[in-house]
Amino acid sequence: MTTDSPLAPAWLEVPADLNALHEPLWAGGVARNGDGELTIDGLTVSELQRQYGTPLFVLSESDFRARARAFSDAFNDAFADICGGVDVYYAGKSFLCTSVVRWVEEEGLRLDTASGGELAVAARAGIPGADVALHGNNKSDGEIHRALDMQLGRIVVDSLDELERVATIAANRGDTARVMLRLTPGVHAHTHEFIATAHEDQKFGLSMAGDTTDQAGLSAAEEAVAAATRHESIELLGLHCHIGSQIFEPDGFALAAEKLLDFLAAMQSKYSIVLPELDLGGGYGIAYTPVDTPRPAAEIAQAMAAVVRSKCAALGITAPRISIEPGRAIVGSTTFTLYEVGTLKTVRVDAPAVGGDNAAGDVTYPRRYVSVDGGMSDNPRPVLYDADYSAILASRSSDAAPQLSRVVGKHCESGDIVVRDVYLPEDVAAGDLLAVPGTGAYCWALSSNYNYLARPGVVAVSDGSARLIVRGETEEDLLNRDMGV
Ligand code: LLP
Repeated sequence: MTTDSPLAPAWLEVPADLNALHEPLWAGGVARNGDGELTIDGLTVSELQRQYGTPLFVLSESDFRARARAFSDAFNDAFADICGGVDVYYAGKSFLCTSVVRWVEEEGLRLDTASGGELAVAARAGIPGADVALHGNNKSDGEIHRALDMQLGRIVVDSLDELERVATIAANRGDTARVMLRLTPGVHAHTHEFIATAHEDQKFGLSMAGDTTDQAGLSAAEEAVAAATRHESIELLGLHCHIGSQIFEPDGFALAAEKLLDFLAAMQSKYSIVLPELDLGGGYGIAYTPVDTPRPAAEIAQAMAAVVRSKCAALGITAPRISIEPGRAIVGSTTFTLYEVGTLKTVRVDAPAVGGDNAAGDVTYPRRYVSVDGGMSDNPRPVLYDADYSAILASRSSDAAPQLSRVVGKHCESGDIVVRDVYLPEDVAAGDLLAVPGTGAYCWALSSNYNYLARPGVVAVSDGSARLIVRGETEEDLLNRDMGV
């Protein structure tokens, strides 16, 4: 029986049962059937492969809808008595297509976009512009016009430059732009911790800090408020912040809320205005491996609500309407990627390389490389962010011993890793299917055609049937932009 490999990272445990599904990683409706094969809503992965090929993103529509509702319910409950509820904007950058926009709308959420292309998807899906927000630190004039054409509910203005451009474009059209100002509250939250330093050194947002003042001694954030109130073509709705992504603890969100409420109260009194809205952004974390333990949405929502309630009371202000922008927390766990296994090889790694006391290097340990038919082109997150994932043998169950494995792609890069460290059954063989859970957010969205690989399709499963919501690319797709001249 293979035990813990010294090559494995400290957090990775040998699973008691390699066939078991660790529930937090998977969409509802995913299970193993009596034959040991992975199914979603009763559909086997081998059937999905036969119909749609691999690699394939397999998304549960009912799970997406359930997570959207759960998030929205948790925040609406927590904030009901403070500001009558919360507007939840699904962050489309995490995964966007017209079907998703329709689900979002049907579940009572709104849509956060970050480019003209994302606006085009929103328009194609037919969501009312009033339910759409536009972000971006470098919006083009064309994107600003498009936002006004679509009568967007809000344009989230990122800089003083942009505020002037939006005001001028709207004025020239005889229009009014509904604007939120994105501020940098000095809370930079990353993964499990937050630090209140070095926050100004980034491209997004209007600084609230005193050391970026203009001649009149105003911070960029205050300058923007003052300027917005002067422009007749701007309707200033309120303030926005987004402190980071894949955050588990509520403290960072709460601290940012407090800072923005202090500022909001100060601006309301100094400029005799009302700022009726406050957006606290997205960033709620999900589980990628068994050691990730995100808090339930209700717990985070309650913690944030408690802070907003007490801060508004202390400041003696009416609480603004709160909005949030979750992406990953809604779509991340709805999806797994299905891959077919190809080449396998085992290397032996010297113990010193893993910090052992085997200076002579005469003890080595095996690591198995399991190549799949996709890779960094369908999931660049391991390469970009050192992100950890997990994987299971999906086409069958196995009683074979666990073997420390590294799931790698088929690209011409040694860094092309899909799952850096995972225990898989040692009898995994070419032709088997592997499933990698948690690939709903920022995988398809970040996918590329590196090495002229066709981007995979996305299949939505609901009520026991599957349909393509984004078809996979064909070789024709890959070639037809090559002008050949
Ligand atoms: N709102 C704003 C203004 C954002 O910039 C983002 C994400 C969100 C909301 C949604 O954040 P979420 O709830 O999905 O964490 N590609 C990286 C993440 C980039 C996040 C960009 N902004 C990754 O794969 O981890």
